[in-house]
Amino acid sequence: MNNEKVEIFDTTLRDGEQVPGCKLDTNQKLIIAERLDMLGVDVIEAGFPVSSPGDFTSVNEIAKIVKNATVCGLTRAVKKDIEVAAQALKQAVKPRIHTGIGTSDSHIKYKFNSTREDVIIRARESVSYAKNFVDDVEFYAEDAGRTDNSFLAKICEEVIKSGATVLNIPDTTGYCLPEEYGAKIKYLKDNVKGIENVIISCHCHNDLGLATANSIAGVINGARQIECTINGIGERAGNTALEEVVMILKQHPYLNLETNINAKLLYDTSLMVREKMGMFVQPNKAIVGANAFAHSSGIHQDGVIKNRETYEIINPEEVGVTESAIVLTARSGRAALAFRAKKIGYELTKVQLDSAYNTFLQFADKQKEVIDDDIHVIMKQVSKFSKIAIA
Ligand code: KIV
Ligand code: ZN
Repeated sequence: MNNEKVEIFDTTLRDGEQVPGCKLDTNQKLIIAERLDMLGVDVIEAGFPVSSPGDFTSVNEIAKIVKNATVCGLTRAVKKDIEVAAQALKQAVKPRIHTGIGTSDSHIKYKFNSTREDVIIRARESVSYAKNFVDDVEFYAEDAGRTDNSFLAKICEEVIKSGATVLNIPDTTGYCLPEEYGAKIKYLKDNVKGIENVIISCHCHNDLGLATANSIAGVINGARQIECTINGIGERAGNTALEEVVMILKQHPYLNLETNINAKLLYDTSLMVREKMGMFVQPNKAIVGANAFAHSSGIHQDGVIKNRETYEIINPEEVGVTESAIVLTARSGRAALAFRAKKIGYELTKVQLDSAYNTFLQFADKQKEVIDDDIHVIMKQVSKFSKIAIA
C-alpha cells in the first residue's frame, strides 16, 4: 500500500517565537527559515505580519528567500491584518494566508461578546477577503478543541464554500484527550460537505503533555497536516514537537503515513533553534534531548553494548546524533567500563578490569559521572601492577 503524505507545517517562527525571551531578529529568523526549508517542511509560518514592523519585515524577507516550502503569515479575521499579510507575502513563490477566529462558546462570549451567527459571518468574510490576494487560504477555528462539534462542522462548511484550502482545528488550550481529538477530526470528515477537497490540519498545544499524542490521533483519523515546532517550543507548555511526530510516523510504518522531512537534520536543527533562541532543552526530551540516546544503568549498558536494539528503538544516526552514549555512573557495570576504556585506547584483561572496576566505583560514588579524564587516572593506577594493552 502506498503511503499517504502528512504535510509538516512549521510554526517555530510564529507560535514558537511567542515564548517569553525567545524573540529573534530578522537575520536569525532567515537562518532558521533556510534550515527549515532544507529540512523539508512543507509550510513555514513565518510570523504575524500586522503585529509589528519587525515581524512584517521578517515575513517579507523570508518570503523572498524560501525556495521550496509554502510561506505563511498569520492574521486575525480582520481586513487590515489580511492586507498587511498579503503585502508581506508578495514575493513568496508559494504564499499562504492563515486567518481565523475563536469558535468556542468561551471565546465567542468573553473575547468577542458576540454570537455564533456573527462569528460565522466574520469567518466567511475573512476567508473570501484573503482569497482576493492568494489562492491558498488556511482557516483556523481557534479553541476548536473546546468547540461544540456540530457548530465547528457548520463553520468549517461555510469557510470551505468561501474558498478555504486548509482547515486548522487547533486544540488551543491543550485540553483534549487523544481519543476525543481524533473523534473530532473524524466527526468533521463525516459531517462537513466539501471536506474531501481540503486538508485538515492539527494544531495541538501541550498543556497536559498530550500535544504529540493528539496530533497523531488527528492524522490517524484523516487529518493530513500537522502544525508543530522544533523542540516543541510555543505558548505556555508549547506546541507539538516536529521531531516527535516525524519519528513516530517513521517508527510505525503500518500507519502508511509519511512526511517529507530529512530526519538526519533533526538534531542539528534542534541545536540551531536552541542556540538562536537561547532556549534550553530538557535532557530527557524525546529524540533531541541530551539523554535521548544515553544509557547509564548497568543492565541497559550491557544490553546496548551487545546489541543497540535491546534498548533503542531509533538508531541515533537516523536523526543526526553520531552515536549512543554510555554514561558511566555508580550504576554502571564492568561491561560499560571496559567499553569506555577501549574507546579511549585501553584493552583490559579480566583481572585488570576487576581491579579497575573497584577503583572506578570509588570515583563513581563521589561524583555524578565518571568521565574520560577519570578513566585515564584509573588506568594509570591499574598499570602500576600490570601493563595494559593498547586497544
Ligand atoms: O493555538 C492556536 O489556536 C493558534 C492559532 C492562532 C492558529 O496558534
Ligand atoms: Zn497555537
